[in-house]
Parts: sequence; structure tokens; C-alpha cells
Amino acid sequence: MGKLYVCDHPLIQHKLTYIRDENTKTKDFRQLVDEVAMLMAYEITRDLPLEKVKVHTPVIEAECQVISGRMLGLIPILRAGLGMVDGILKLHPTAKVGHVGLYRDPETLQPVEYYVKLPTDVLERELIVIDPMLATGGSANMAIDVLKKRGCQQIKLMCLIAAPEGVKAVQEAHPDVDIYVAAVDDYLNDHGYIVPGLGDAGDRLFGTK
Ligand code: URA
Repeated sequence: MGKLYVCDHPLIQHKLTYIRDENTKTKDFRQLVDEVAMLMAYEITRDLPLEKVKVHTPVIEAECQVISGRMLGLIPILRAGLGMVDGILKLHPTAKVGHVGLYRDPETLQPVEYYVKLPTDVLERELIVIDPMLATGGSANMAIDVLKKRGCQQIKLMCLIAAPEGVKAVQEAHPDVDIYVAAVDDYLNDHGYIVPGLGDAGDRLFGTK
């Protein structure tokens, strides 16, 4: 089963509180999401392998370390996932970014793919699927399916807030995918919102409500 990592660093928890607050305006909401994404990127890349390199310091030739080989691909699920991309890119500016667009079929209520654009070398990259809210898990599972159908294997999922239902759904469908979140909330309400949550992440990021 995929592991669930709750990034409980005090800075992340502090900022998440203001992200949840309904009085936080769009500009601050966006900035806080960006900052939390950057802090979470620090946790999610903790297992990146290092290799030894020689560096001439002003004093001596020293053996130091740099991140080796494995390259990252960020895969935001449109549209709310976009809000976390820049924060991660601040720490990993060489990551490439693919996009997966999904909409919910009004009759079946199932997510349907409408847009997929991935880096050409996607199979060589470790991929981070990004969606701020892991609610039912339907969109995350479909985005991971989209990647696996194209042969991708190394996939992590990064969300701000998860409902227990969403965590369970992803762990069952994709036991090879580790999940990174800032919080696991209480439950999903009848309208599909995470409780206590933060409301509609896309609307709050883009000021569309
Ligand atoms: N998507 C959101 O934006 N918010 C929720 O609470 C659940 C899904």
C-alpha cells in the first residue's frame, strides 16, 4: 500500500490555517498556497538520490554532493493544481510541467479526460501529480491512470488537504503511489466538499467566486 505522509511542519500548519480562513482574500490565498507548495516540495523530494562531485572551494578541492540523475515532472490537474506549481518550481527549477485536464460528467459524475500534454521525456521522470484537494479520489485516480496508460511508473501524489475517503480510494486503486498532504480532514459532505476544508480551491485561487 502507498504511504501517506502528512507534512506537519509548523510553518506548513500555520500557513494552512490562513488558507482555510474564509476571510483570506485571493491574493493572500494564492501566495500562501504557493509557499506551502514550496515547503511541501522540500518533504516530497527528501528521497532524491545524491551523487558525489568534486568542487574547488577557495580553500581546497572538496568532495560534495549534488542531486543525481532522476529528473522531476510536475503534473497539475487543471485547474486548481496550477496554484501549487510555481512554489515547487522555486525549489526545482529544472522540473518540467505536464497538464491533465479532467471534467466531471454530469450524468455519471465520473471524471473524464479532456486535455493531456506531457513532457516528451515523461517516462524518464519521477512524476508528482498535483491537486490541492483530494476529495473522493476520482480525479487523482484518473490522472494517475492517464499517466500509467502512457507507461509512467514513478508517481507521487501531492495535495494540500485530503478527505479520508480520497486517501482510501487512491491507496486501493494505486498502491504503488505515495501520497503527500498537509492535512487529512474529517469527512466529505453531501456536496462533495472536504470538511472543514477550505471551500472550492479553484475558485479561491482564481477569484472566480
Ligand atoms: N474540491 C475543492 O475545491 N474543495 C473541496 O472541498 C473538495 C473538492
